Amino acid sequence: MAAPLSKKFTLNDLRAARAAGSKTPVLTCYDYTTARHMQAAGVPVLLVGDSAANVILGYDSTLPISLNFLIEITAAVRRGAPLAMIMGDLPFGSYGGDVGRGFDSAANMVKLSGCDCVKLEVGPTHTTLVNELAGAGVAVVAHLGLRPQSVSLLGGYRYQGRTAAEANALVAMAIEMQQAGAAAILLEAVPPEVSQRVVERTGVPVIGCGAGPSCHASVIVTQDGLGLTPHRPRFAPALRDESGRDPAAAINQAFASYVRQVAGGEYPGAEHQYEMLPEEKIRFLKMQ
Ligand code: KIV
Repeated sequence: MAAPLSKKFTLNDLRAARAAGSKTPVLTCYDYTTARHMQAAGVPVLLVGDSAANVILGYDSTLPISLNFLIEITAAVRRGAPLAMIMGDLPFGSYGGDVGRGFDSAANMVKLSGCDCVKLEVGPTHTTLVNELAGAGVAVVAHLGLRPQSVSLLGGYRYQGRTAAEANALVAMAIEMQQAGAAAILLEAVPPEVSQRVVERTGVPVIGCGAGPSCHASVIVTQDGLGLTPHRPRFAPALRDESGRDPAAAINQAFASYVRQVAGGEYPGAEHQYEMLPEEKIRFLKMQ
């Protein structure tokens, strides 16, 4: 068992981990209760991703989720894991097209949720925004590679950096984001040669999500790892307890056991009931 977090994990710890060559685990998290468990399990960085649109709200893309909803759940995760580094996420439509609006969205995310850094899916048009935010003291995580908010433009959820030209453009964009002031880079669904080159050519922590072993940190959507989503991406590990049990099976069995207990009249039992004061109970029963 990993030790619970005992002190606040910060961007400096992520940078130190990069320098020391140690790898940092990152999980997505969308609620207070799970955040408490993750902090207790020693997960140092929690991403409150817009993947909440899929795994919490049931949409088939990340596009519909609102900034207010993400702020609300990020604040909940913050309360559950005060010692973890919390990464807020800006949703589709909250930062494209207008630097001022993007700045306000990021500032609201930081102010209202208490997150430690803000992630944005970036392209060439976001360099000014990243620069403005960094100038104002916001730790920006620049998300490159597969950018689910651009699913229409990318033509589907396809891994990125397939051709030499695409890979080259990705490395160039990572360098541009670092120069603009990004505090970290997140690479989603790119071949390992591309992430290795980004790691070599930049000096900030690189967080991989299906991006091979060279990245300094790894993130997965927790529900994929737990086997709770219909499809586990090829890069997501099957998370198990120490006896190798499947958590999704355990949860399904627990629900089925509740159904059996209620339907069979075992629940609620005497141990689940509240008691009236004895004399009040007598008086009450006489009233009827
Ligand atoms: O929103 C999210 O969870 C993400 C990860 C998949 C990297 O962006």
